[in-house]
Amino acid sequence: MDDSFALNRANWDERAPAHAASPGYAIERFLSDPTFISDVVRFDLPRLGDVAGLDGVHLQCHIGTDTVSLARLGARMTGLDFSPASLAEARRLAAAAGNDVEFVQAQVYDAPAVLGRERFDFVFTGIGAICWMPKIRPWAEVVAELLRPGGWLFIREGHPMMWSLDERTDGLLVVEYPYFEHEEPIVDDDGGTYVETDVSFEHTVSHSWNHGLGEIVTALLDVGMQLTMLVEHDSVPWEAIPKAMERTTEKEWRLADRPGRLPHSYTLRAVKPA
Ligand SMILES: C[S@@+](CC[C@H](N)C(=O)[O-])C[C@H]1O[C@@H](n2cnc3c(N)ncnc32)[C@H](O)[C@@H]1O
Repeated sequence: MDDSFALNRANWDERAPAHAASPGYAIERFLSDPTFISDVVRFDLPRLGDVAGLDGVHLQCHIGTDTVSLARLGARMTGLDFSPASLAEARRLAAAAGNDVEFVQAQVYDAPAVLGRERFDFVFTGIGAICWMPKIRPWAEVVAELLRPGGWLFIREGHPMMWSLDERTDGLLVVEYPYFEHEEPIVDDDGGTYVETDVSFEHTVSHSWNHGLGEIVTALLDVGMQLTMLVEHDSVPWEAIPKAMERTTEKEWRLADRPGRLPHSYTLRAVKPA
């Protein structure tokens, strides 16, 4: 597992500067408009509620665009990620944008030991996050440990049914990868990334894992969390299946042909009982 993490970290470290420079992450907008928030956070505003004055932690914050967005909504934010290059971009963004956010380098499974237990009112994560976790149960334990009683988890994530599809087919939906949690990682060898960039990458291999929706919910229930929201969406914030998707008016991506066939993503909220 350590080998998988080392390999994934090298992959993310190399991509972080290219992501920060890409139009998709809209860094220029953050700098020129102090009220700008990311499309990802904007999409879920009706489900997020008021976070002003709350202590929040963003697990797998990458280059910090969603973390800074939550700070702009008034939360006191901490971002955690294991990629130093991602955190360097995140710190640069927060400083230049004038938002006070703490960024901490750590492995997700170590988050409670590093950040402290029962320290946060909410945990925010998602959009390509839990697929890097080999097991969902210890991840759920991390979430529950970080939260104060009464605190809540907010996650919007790619749907496990969508993750099970082969993204390199010409418009066909081909179920290629496991839907249910599996021992051996899915090994991907990809010289590109999910944003527009001319950069060619040397670290091309990554290891990921899928977790079924029922497994995610069950893991959260097993650690004592209560499910308060589960909404499946027919769109996702990145071009998850190239050649089969088109842009939506909400700046998301959706299957061009009969999108109702596929749950693309979901938003889930769960609360730790007070
Ligand atoms: C797709 S990004 C997260 C997406 C984020 N929502 C965004 O688009 O900005 C995935 C992040 O997870 C981080 N990551 C992957 N595995 C991790 C782990 N085991 N512990 C901590 N961070 C991890 C990577 O460094 C990367 O920054």
